[in-house]
Amino acid sequence: MTFHSVAWVDNGLRLLDQRALPQRLVYNDYHSYHEVAQAIREMVVRGAPAIGAAAAFGMALAAAAAPEDDPEQALALVGEAAAVLKAARPTAVNLSWAVERMLRRLHDPALVSVADLRQAALAEAQAIAAEDVRINRQIAVNALSVVPDEAVFIHHCNTGSLATVDYGTALGVIRMAHERGKKVFVLVDETRPRLQGARLTAWELQRYGVPFKVIVDSASGHFMRTLGVDLCVVGADRIAANGDTANKIGTYNLAIVAHEHGVPFYVAAPTTTLDLSIPDGSHIEIEERPAREITHVGDCAITPAGAEVANPAFDVTPARYITGILTEAGIAYPPFATSLARLLALTQEAGAQKEAGGRRD
Ligand code: MRU
Repeated sequence: MTFHSVAWVDNGLRLLDQRALPQRLVYNDYHSYHEVAQAIREMVVRGAPAIGAAAAFGMALAAAAAPEDDPEQALALVGEAAAVLKAARPTAVNLSWAVERMLRRLHDPALVSVADLRQAALAEAQAIAAEDVRINRQIAVNALSVVPDEAVFIHHCNTGSLATVDYGTALGVIRMAHERGKKVFVLVDETRPRLQGARLTAWELQRYGVPFKVIVDSASGHFMRTLGVDLCVVGADRIAANGDTANKIGTYNLAIVAHEHGVPFYVAAPTTTLDLSIPDGSHIEIEERPAREITHVGDCAITPAGAEVANPAFDVTPARYITGILTEAGIAYPPFATSLARLLALTQEAGAQKEAGGRRD
């Protein structure tokens, strides 16, 4: 690994500016939570787990900026930061999950001074980042059983090291299958309008030596019928209790085409992407992004001046089109209402045991 999407460097947050890829590898440093929120909004950093980790470091920056001698004011400031960071992008639940976890940690009555708060904030953000990497690798290990020894994949958006702290979710599944000697080939959806597939996934796969071809999003049906596709693997931004899954716009179309062709359709995501507080996908807020993402490619206008556009950044794939949900706790199969609840309970139990072990040490 020679790049880091999210890292804590010299008392600040360093983000790989994903807008500049694949042409340039640019890192930007951030020293306030406002700057971090803006970087999330403008998609310097993107991908559900990566924006969660970035927001956690944003909370650490808020704690670091708090006045030395006033713990109450420090807590008020992290509260403000939490609200600003959570509002940066609405769909990925990992963002609010990370911010809420930071708030819980910082409201520990054992933290009495501002120095305590600062130290705890940074340690918690670093723990969130480190856990993300471990979790992603475990998702990929768990998924090996569903990947044939020779496999043609379709992958949508970017779900790799860039979209996480490292390794990736759906792309991690592909990467590990390749590392373990399976013969994999990837059809990479270009992923209009921001081209996360063409710009970012292709860039990552080149670095990992995984063979691939970039295709336009609307070509998936053609390749399922002509070449043959063994499985689709995509990421997720929020998964409802019944398994309905919000992910990058176009995921729903891909799932329907896969269903028509009998191609297994898997979602790979950490359990932090589960939102069991909502019964189904109709409760997921879909982010609407600026029209310019559709009307222009780079600086070139591709629509007539004044043309109206609609630009939802995500869609919801109904659970009935999903073969399985690959998580670090295991694979959930339909009916998801029971399998997801069971996997989440397992994760929470393991977390509680670890915490109790930590307190005893
Ligand atoms: O708008 P983006 O690029 O942040 O959307 C990203 C996706 O939809 C990913 O598939 C999802 O966040 C999972 S990333 C591991």
